[in-house]
Amino acid sequence: MKILVVGGGGREHAICWRVRADRPDADLWCAPGNTGIASIAAAVPLAADDVRGLTAWAADNRPDLVIVGPEDPSAQGLVDRLAELGVRAFGPSAAAARLEASKAWATELLDRAGVPIPDSAVFEAARDAHAYVDDCGGPLVVKADGLALGKGVLVCSTPAEAHAAVDAVMVERRFGGAGASAVIQERCYGPELSVFALCAGASFKIIGAARDYKRAHDGDRGPNTGGVGAYTPVADAGGGLLREAASRIIGPTLAAAADAGAPFTGVLYAGLMLTADGPVVIEFNVRFGDPEAQVLLPTMRGDLVSALEAALDGNVDTVTLEPDGRAGVCVVLASGGYPGAYTTGRAIQGLDALPPDALAFHAGTERRGQDLVTAGGRVLGIVGRGADVPAARAAAYQAVHAVSFQGAQWRRDIAKLERAAVTPAAANQPCNEVSP
Ligand code: AMP
Ligand code: GLY
Repeated sequence: MKILVVGGGGREHAICWRVRADRPDADLWCAPGNTGIASIAAAVPLAADDVRGLTAWAADNRPDLVIVGPEDPSAQGLVDRLAELGVRAFGPSAAAARLEASKAWATELLDRAGVPIPDSAVFEAARDAHAYVDDCGGPLVVKADGLALGKGVLVCSTPAEAHAAVDAVMVERRFGGAGASAVIQERCYGPELSVFALCAGASFKIIGAARDYKRAHDGDRGPNTGGVGAYTPVADAGGGLLREAASRIIGPTLAAAADAGAPFTGVLYAGLMLTADGPVVIEFNVRFGDPEAQVLLPTMRGDLVSALEAALDGNVDTVTLEPDGRAGVCVVLASGGYPGAYTTGRAIQGLDALPPDALAFHAGTERRGQDLVTAGGRVLGIVGRGADVPAARAAAYQAVHAVSFQGAQWRRDIAKLERAAVTPAAANQPCNEVSP
């Protein structure tokens, strides 16, 4: 079987690793891939969002399956273009990818479908947004409508901060065209949970849940990042909560998307906040989470490729992919300073000396002669597995201590289960660059 994975981060390394583990004989390609992926898949030198180039490659090479990792190519229509060629691609159409790519579209859809979301309003003019901030008074979250590399969400504590955020998004256009419209939401409080469903139109199967850590520093302090750690399973995401997520959130969302002419096929990632009044949707993503994929894929039983093909056939009922009962913990080794300015080109040592069961997924590395050096903000996802979360955590940190590069930065408290409940006071640590 000939399989192309699109993307080049830790998530795509985990996807390729899983495909390779399940299908040792597959002819596996990755565009653009990365240094770690290069040892298990052939590199296709095309950027993940080069829709035209990827379509031409698929026309020439006729893969049996394309697995789209990130949101950008889907939002730009890669899956639609491949379908026109008769190439099977796992991921959403551009229309369905609006669940992530347009927060305004998603908010209106979810509101109509009665899916629990924070009180929200959509604005196309900064003047109206400012007036709304004045009316609300309480703590708000200001979100740029479009894709902004995970950075277009400004969590505010005061109206003054919210006014500054509206200006940053809609007037200064700090997130570019993503800020042509904005969603303003009531700020909610509670632990967050990422729930993943394999979807085929209106039918779906929840395949796992994980918790990720977005703040750069221990104790959930410092700026928001793309994600610096994750673990699964999550104790407060028991069967009851997942059933509620299925019946009140994922099912109605998929039905509403299909009704809107945008049936969703792919992995739907529901970013939930578990508030005192129950779970609310903070965001939908149209892909596996990163680093969540790095803990979910290594702790599942079943065959990933068969599961994705079953979804493409509309048969999620036959999917056997499910958590295997083990726990997984991922600690991201980042370049010092991330998500702000950082230095690259630092030699990485110790990957050969990892404990046997630990995994290292590459995100920002490159070869320089014989050396492996840092080449990005998130450098490596170090994953430990174990019978329970504390055992997986111990395995992950043992492996973290085996790896080194100058200036490495990582959180010491990933999967430390006594993490304090999120309260308004604790949550008010500064996390935005925007201040009044
Ligand atoms: P997003 O990019 O939509 O995932 O948002 C980034 C982060 O902002 C989330 O993980 C939450 O921590 C926070 N956030 C988003 N919306 C809200 C909200 N309505 N209330 C509180 N925090 C939020
Ligand atoms: N872990 C957050 C994300 O993938 O967007």
